Amino acid sequence: MNLILLGPPGAGKGTQAKRLQDTHGIAQVSTGDMLRAEVAGGTPVGLEAKAVMEAGQLVSDDIIVRMLASRVSQPDCAKGFILDGFPRTVPQAQALDRMLADKHLKLDAVIELKVDDSALTERIAGRFTCASCGEGYHDSFKQTAKTGVCDSCGGTQFTRRADDNRDTVVARLEAYHRQTAPILPHYAAQGTLRTVDGMADIGEVASQIDAILAQIG
Ligand code: AP5
Repeated sequence: MNLILLGPPGAGKGTQAKRLQDTHGIAQVSTGDMLRAEVAGGTPVGLEAKAVMEAGQLVSDDIIVRMLASRVSQPDCAKGFILDGFPRTVPQAQALDRMLADKHLKLDAVIELKVDDSALTERIAGRFTCASCGEGYHDSFKQTAKTGVCDSCGGTQFTRRADDNRDTVVARLEAYHRQTAPILPHYAAQGTLRTVDGMADIGEVASQIDAILAQIG
């Protein structure tokens, strides 16, 4: 099964994609995580992407499409993938159409997580991640069971993203509305677009997504 999770920054794409990876055995492909790994590794792509990401702008389509094409060719994507954070522009959506056609693959659903802008800053400002295993948490909405200890791996070090600050969030939201939201009609026209209420709590959003996946079989 091949899926896209679409929505503004902080909508819950990563949270739901990780869960689907665990429950359905399909690979989470997050272009944001891939870029952060490039930045951390100090690669040429990372050096180019760092300032762009910290300003809340989008990295160039060329870089992203090349990165994505190589990622979905890896063995863990053979059973399917969940695209988290891609596509984000009309040219990226068109490049994905070509990529899928070349590989004789079909897109099963594009799931839009609809969340009011006013909720996103709080979600992003409260987000933190286990430095060892990458499990995501939130100061209010998804706390660790034991303070300071990761539920998944027992790690005690946590990180917060460089772009998770109020100024950058404004720029990221602006980029979403200007460059990413215009791809929604592309998928509505293809008949693959499904929308869920991303304002609901994490478990309820998961149930809505599972109901869609059950329908498309
Ligand atoms: P990326 O890493 O993709 O970030 P994003 O789209 O801004 O999305 P986030 O990761 O911030 O949010 P999310 O929707 O995954 O929410 P999460 O589940 O963590 O991109 C970062 C940057 O990389 C971009 O700005 C750009 O520069 C670059 N980039 C990446 N892809 C690109 C591309 N294709 N083209 C060009 N540039 C690209 O949830 C957020 C928090 O809320 C968590 O703490 C979570 O616990 C909590 N939460 C989740 N769901 C709920 C809920 N239902 N109720 C309450 N809390 C919730």
